[in-house]
Amino acid sequence: MSTQTALLKVMSDAARKAARGLNRDFGELNELQVSKKGAADFVSAADLKAEQTIFEALEKARPGYSFLGEERGLIEGTDKTHTWIVDPLDGTTNFLHAIPHFAINIALQREGAIVAAVTYNPVTNELFWAEKGKGCFVNDKRLRVAARTRLDESVIGTGIPFLGHGQHAKFLKELHQISQRVAGVRRFGAAALDLAYVAAGRLDGFWERDLGAWDIAAGHLLITEAGGKVTTIEGEENVLETGSICTANLELHPLLIERLKAAA
Ligand code: IPD
Ligand code: CA
Ligand code: CA
Repeated sequence: MSTQTALLKVMSDAARKAARGLNRDFGELNELQVSKKGAADFVSAADLKAEQTIFEALEKARPGYSFLGEERGLIEGTDKTHTWIVDPLDGTTNFLHAIPHFAINIALQREGAIVAAVTYNPVTNELFWAEKGKGCFVNDKRLRVAARTRLDESVIGTGIPFLGHGQHAKFLKELHQISQRVAGVRRFGAAALDLAYVAAGRLDGFWERDLGAWDIAAGHLLITEAGGKVTTIEGEENVLETGSICTANLELHPLLIERLKAAA
């Protein structure tokens, strides 16, 4: 039941290959062998290297597919019906600060629909994966979204806008609506893992604005295959295009949307 198809194996191998480099670089940062001043450059080099590793591995296995990476943008292939959507390092700020919580995110889009997803946490060695219609897994364990149906029992993840990024006043209104009604709010700093955690039932829900398609594409499929619902904060379908996301199980989702609407 948890056997990966050839496609998923290609994606998992690419993620694990890039992870080996990232783990080495993370180790160096951790040992403070990189000066504080040089750290940001070091991390962006690590990021670029990881994207190149993933690009080469995917291109070798599936020549001609298009590739949308956070670092290099869109590289059009001869096959325009297939596009890899990749964030080689999600959680860059954590990585830079030696916080061991980051991920590699790879999704495959076929004719507009996300059909396969891999989110890999190299520190915990958790590989979250899903293929359309075939369920969602972490390593070889099947995943389901959490069953909690009440906000007052739920732990909800989010992303907080930061320097030069996002809508700060709007976020505070949304937080005000949510935080007073839930058991807890978490900001872990890697949206790809937040979404994988919703799929795994660790987080009961999640919302964030201003994300990139590479942050969301894999997690969107992980969550729907784990039985959850994914829309924009406005309750619409165009999540990848808008970068706005609200997700939870089917019962909790409308309650979150209602609270977020009250903040508008
Ligand atoms: C960021 C992380 C973070 C989210 C930001 C993203 P990056 O991605 O996912 O959790 O709040 O909006 O940009 O820059 O670390 O790949
Ligand atoms: Ca990201
Ligand atoms: Ca990134």
